[in-house]
Amino acid sequence: MAVLPSGIFHTRRGARRASARDLDYGPPEGAPSLREAIADYLHRARAVVCDAARVVIVNGSQQTLDLTARVLLDRGDRVIVEDPQYQGAREVLRAAGARLQTATVDREGIDPAKLPKARAALVTPSHQFPTGAILPLARRLALLQWAKRSRAVVIEDDYDGEFHYEGQPVESMQGLDTEGRVIYIGTFSRTVFPALRIGYLVVPKALVDPFTGAKWLCDRHTPTLEQETLAEFIVSGAYERHLRRARRKNAVRRRALLEAIRDHLGDRVEVTGEGSGAHVALWPRGRISEETLVTRAAECGVAITGISQYFLRANPRPGLLLGYARLCESQIREGIMRLAAVV
Ligand SMILES: Cc1ncc(COP(=O)(O)O)c(C=O)c1O
Repeated sequence: MAVLPSGIFHTRRGARRASARDLDYGPPEGAPSLREAIADYLHRARAVVCDAARVVIVNGSQQTLDLTARVLLDRGDRVIVEDPQYQGAREVLRAAGARLQTATVDREGIDPAKLPKARAALVTPSHQFPTGAILPLARRLALLQWAKRSRAVVIEDDYDGEFHYEGQPVESMQGLDTEGRVIYIGTFSRTVFPALRIGYLVVPKALVDPFTGAKWLCDRHTPTLEQETLAEFIVSGAYERHLRRARRKNAVRRRALLEAIRDHLGDRVEVTGEGSGAHVALWPRGRISEETLVTRAAECGVAITGISQYFLRANPRPGLLLGYARLCESQIREGIMRLAAVV
């Protein structure tokens, strides 16, 4: 979650205005107003090529993966996942019976030249979770070529693509796809708040009906009043104003974090993932174990997450995940100063 949007959630006002029809079951693929608003926004902001007819509204990106598994995967299908990766995503695929095949992440993300044939690849190209690598254009194109050769789909999880700080923002992989092989996933968890539980899929035309059918089977549809309120928020321009404000605030916090790391930790750590998103990965160079670091930091009042839990294979070196969107600059500086005493 970034900065809380001011005045967004007037769902009660929406409920008072709602007609009896608005309170009946809605369409499984989502409210037309929200699908339209998202398609316009994605085209403008993320270079996603789509119209509203290809957008399916769901309950957060967790549900996008559940639906993708139901629609596209058979038990035993091989699915490539980045290593490390987000556990929420890998576990939903595993629960669906997918055979997970890890792909090592280097400073630029996964290397498509090394991928075996598979049914799908789940990737976070805009800001690899959790290392923060940004997949360069050449690798994006190579991944699309791999998908074509393997007759696979690429599931692009663009969970925090809205936050980019240096150079040109990297556009979505979906916009580069000419073969209809990318399933694009987005969420409002990072830009509005996670409790909203609204996310979306952009799927190739031929998959709209199967995804809509799967959504209906799961839970009929995502709550309508929230969808209508969110649509109003986006169409009014308030969402993008909120994003600009959040981006500015995150940029200031990110600068404070990087300066504090430079001043207090210096060469003792390597930092990755600072180019976008709202977290960085910190890789201590000393011999201290990740577990000891996390425990000692907690004893000093600094709650940090170790990176090992995100690996399916053994983590080659200790690492820490530092989120900065929920902290003010002085908290960030103080936290890094305390951390420096234990690294
Ligand atoms: C990589 C990644 N994808 C997606 C999500 C968001 O999931 P949801 O939309 O279900 O809240 C997260 C949240 O932490 C995440 O880290």
